[in-house]
Formats: sequence, C-alpha cells, structure tokens
Amino acid sequence: MSDIKDSPHIPVLLNEVLDSFKELKDGVFVDATLGYGGHSSAILKEHKDIHLIGIDRDSEAIEFSKKRLKEFKDRIEFKKGPFSEVLKEIDFSNLKGLLADFGVSSLQLDKLERGFSFNSDKLDMRMDQSSAISAKDIVNSYSLDELTKILREYGEIREAKKIAKKIVEYRVKKEISSSKELANLVLEVVKKKGKIHPATQLFQALRIEVNRELDEINALLDILEERRPKGATIALITFHSLEDRLVKQRFRKWAKRCICPAEVMRCECGGDNNLGVEVTKKPIVASKEEIEKNPRSRSAKLRVFKFKE
Ligand SMILES: C[S@@+](CC[C@H](N)C(=O)[O-])C[C@H]1O[C@@H](n2cnc3c(N)ncnc32)[C@H](O)[C@@H]1O
Repeated sequence: MSDIKDSPHIPVLLNEVLDSFKELKDGVFVDATLGYGGHSSAILKEHKDIHLIGIDRDSEAIEFSKKRLKEFKDRIEFKKGPFSEVLKEIDFSNLKGLLADFGVSSLQLDKLERGFSFNSDKLDMRMDQSSAISAKDIVNSYSLDELTKILREYGEIREAKKIAKKIVEYRVKKEISSSKELANLVLEVVKKKGKIHPATQLFQALRIEVNRELDEINALLDILEERRPKGATIALITFHSLEDRLVKQRFRKWAKRCICPAEVMRCECGGDNNLGVEVTKKPIVASKEEIEKNPRSRSAKLRVFKFKE
C-alpha cells in the first residue's frame, strides 16, 4: 500500500511537479524534503527505474515515510538530517532530478506539542527535535536588537521594534513559555484586523530563525551551483517571498549566457556560460480548485531549472 488515506499532509502542486519530471527515465532522484512521502510516492509510481533518496531532518516524517513507501523499499534510501549536510555526501554523477518542497508540513503545524501554532502550550518550532535552539530560547534570550532584526528581516514586520520591546519587557517578569502567551503579547501591541492573526509574521520569523531556513536554501543552491549535475532537473517549491527570491535570483544567474561586465560594449565571454535553462520563466502556482481543497497551497510557488547535458 503506497497511499495512506489518512496521510497528515497533502502534497502541493502534485500534477505540476510530476509534469516537471515527466522526462525522467532512470538514475538517481533526490527528494530533499521527503516529509510524508506524498511527492515521492507519486514519483516512484510513475518512474519504475529510478532510485530515490529521501531526506528529512524530522524523525517523525522519516518514520512515517518508511511505512508509507514500503512497497518501494528496494529503490529508496532514507537519510535523516538537514539537506545542507546530507547532500554533500550524495554522489551526483547519476542525479537526474531533485525536488525540494520547503517549509513545514501540515503535521508539524497541526501537532500542538511541536509548538508551531498560536494555540499551543509549547513554544518550540524545531523541525529537528534534536537541534539545539528552540523558539522559546530565542524569545527569552535574544537582545532587543537581535529580536528586532529577525522580526524585520524574516517577518517583514513594520512594528518589529515595538513587538521586540514588548517581549523584552515581559520576560523580565516571567519567562515566555508558550505560543499562546507569545501570540497574546503581540495582540497587546498590534490590533487584530481581518482574519489574519497579527502574530503570523512573528511566528514565520521565529520559524525561519530556529530552523535556519534561508541558510538551508542557500546551501542547497550553493551545492547545486558547485556540482552542476549534468542534465538534471531541479524543482523547488517555496512558500513565501523571502524563499522565492533566493530561488528566483539563483536560477536567473544560472541561466545567464553572457557574463561580461556591464561596461563591455560587445560580448567577449563567448555567450555560452549558462549552466542550463530556466524551465519556468514565471513560477507555477496552485489552481483555484487546488487552493479550495488545500488552502496551504495558496502561497506555493514552483520554479524549475534544467542543467545542461
Ligand atoms: C512541506 S513538507 C514536505 C512534504 C512532502 N513533499 C510530502 O509530499 O509529504 C517539508 C518537509 O521538509 C522538511 N525540511 C524542511 N527543511 C529541511 C531541511 N533544511 N533539511 C531537511 N528537511 C527539511 C520538514 O521537516 C518537512 O517534513
């Protein structure tokens, strides 16, 4: 049984991902964010001759996928760890495809004890439960300036300084120990307008900091840039503008044919310096039907790049 009906996570842009890899025949395929195996299960079913390496830094996700993908056990390897580390150990010589569906899974968000959601009694947000620093450590130990910086940069919050000040003042009296407590603190500074909770951006900022999410994406892009896997298709799904910007800029750089300095009048570099082609000039987004069925897909953006043979 490869499809578990009650899978805790619906894979986003599944048809579009499958379409990106339709030319896959054999060789190695890396799913850098295996999660609950939704994408991997479909890829393994559709491509009978590929060998899949599934990476996740969350042990719960790996354990779930081991069961879900049991029928493919002869052509799948599981690796636990951040992809920035695991990818360094993988032989890229036969790599034909790589998928990364960044961010957190629905299960991580929904399980209150993981402390990702506003109504949790915990304040954790670590994707890897064994990593050193949690959201609770950050809100209780970062300086006013450090907090302001991450709220501004990773949360793009206008009231960053005000919220950071509130946190620092509050924790003098009492340690902040739950997501609920933190979300309520934000409500004292920013009033709720509409459906979106004002703490949404703060939680995004903390999640990015706890899990070093942007550093991870940059590391993945650096590894691909260095190794340039011949003919491989790379499909990356992001969930907010900070992530998408990193992918977009890197794909643009890789697709550049001419690398002459701007002041040169005529091209002298040969005009053949691109590492491959951007398959998606604009990101692919979810259809209305998909968003209705799975609201999490609302902010998903898929970009695809194909390295030269
Ligand atoms: C959105 S879910 C992936 C869902 C998956 N595509 C599916 O269909 O079930 C993202 C997963 O990637 C993992 N993850 C996020 N960043 C990671 C990183 N830097 N290294 C390894 N795993 C990571 C998370 O733990 C989570 O399980």
